[in-house]
Amino acid sequence: MIVDIKKMISKKEEELVKRLAVLKQKNKIPKIVFIVANEDEASKSYIRSKIKICDKLGIKQEEIYFTHTCSEEEVVECIKKLNQDKAVTGILVQLPIYHHLNVNTIVNSIKPSKDVDGFHTFNVGSLYSGCQNIIPCTPKGIMSILDELGIELSGKYVVVIGRSNIVGKPIAQLLLQKDSTVTICHSKTRNLKEYTKEADILIVAAGISNLVTKDMIKKDSVIIDVGINRVKDKIVGDVATIEVAKKAKYVTPVPGGVGPMTIISLIENLVEMVENSK
Ligand code: GUN
Repeated sequence: MIVDIKKMISKKEEELVKRLAVLKQKNKIPKIVFIVANEDEASKSYIRSKIKICDKLGIKQEEIYFTHTCSEEEVVECIKKLNQDKAVTGILVQLPIYHHLNVNTIVNSIKPSKDVDGFHTFNVGSLYSGCQNIIPCTPKGIMSILDELGIELSGKYVVVIGRSNIVGKPIAQLLLQKDSTVTICHSKTRNLKEYTKEADILIVAAGISNLVTKDMIKKDSVIIDVGINRVKDKIVGDVATIEVAKKAKYVTPVPGGVGPMTIISLIENLVEMVENSK
C-alpha cells in the first residue's frame, strides 16, 4: 500500500506547535537563516516549502541570496556573523552551491551548534560515533516514517541505493545503530536486483525515475522513495509506485512522502536546538 504521510505530518505538526508554545512562554523564538548560493530552480522551490512551514508555525526566518559573482570569503564572512548573532538559532546552506565555492569550507564555517542540517564535519563525526547530536533532516525523516509505521529494525536486511552525504551514508549509519544489517548500493554496483530482491526495507535515493520496479523487490517489503525527478513537468520518485504498491507492504509516495517529512525534521532539529540552549 501507499503510505499516508499527511496523517503523520499533521501529528508531528501538532507536537511542534505544543513545543513552540512552551518556548514562546520562555521568550525563546527560533530563527533560521537560509543561505542560497545557487540559481537552481529546484532549490528555490525547496526553500519556499521550508519558509511556508516556518510561517505556519511562527518561526522566524531570513533568506540570504548570493549571486554567481560572490566569493567564498564573502559567504564565509556572512556565516561567521550569523554564528555570533544570538537571535539566530540555525543556519542552513541550501545545496548544491556554485561550483567555484568549496562546499566543505562553507559548511564547516557554520558553528556546529547552529548547523541545523547536521552537515558540519563535527556533527557528521558525532553521528558516526553514535552520539545523538543533530541528525541530517532526510535520514531523520525516514527514521520517523519507519517509526510511525511501527517497523522493527533490529535484524532486518536493509538495502540503501545511493551513497550521498545527505542521504545514503547517514541513513545507513542510523539503521546500523538500530541493529539492521545494511548494504549500500550505488551507480557502480553490479547486479543491483540481487540485493534489492532480498531487502526487507529498501531505501532508494538515486535520482533515477523508475529505477525500482515490482520485479526488483521482495514481497511485503517496505520501500522508502527518496527520489525527486522532474519528468515531463511532473515530479516523480525513483520507484514505480503503483506497481510496487501491489507487492510491497508499504511504499512512500512522491510527491508528498519523504520530502514533507524532511521539512518537519528540519523544524524538529531547530526546536530541539532552542530547547537545549541556555
Ligand atoms: N539539498 C538537497 N537536500 C538538502 C538538505 O537536506 N539540506 C540542504 N541544505 N540542502 C539540500
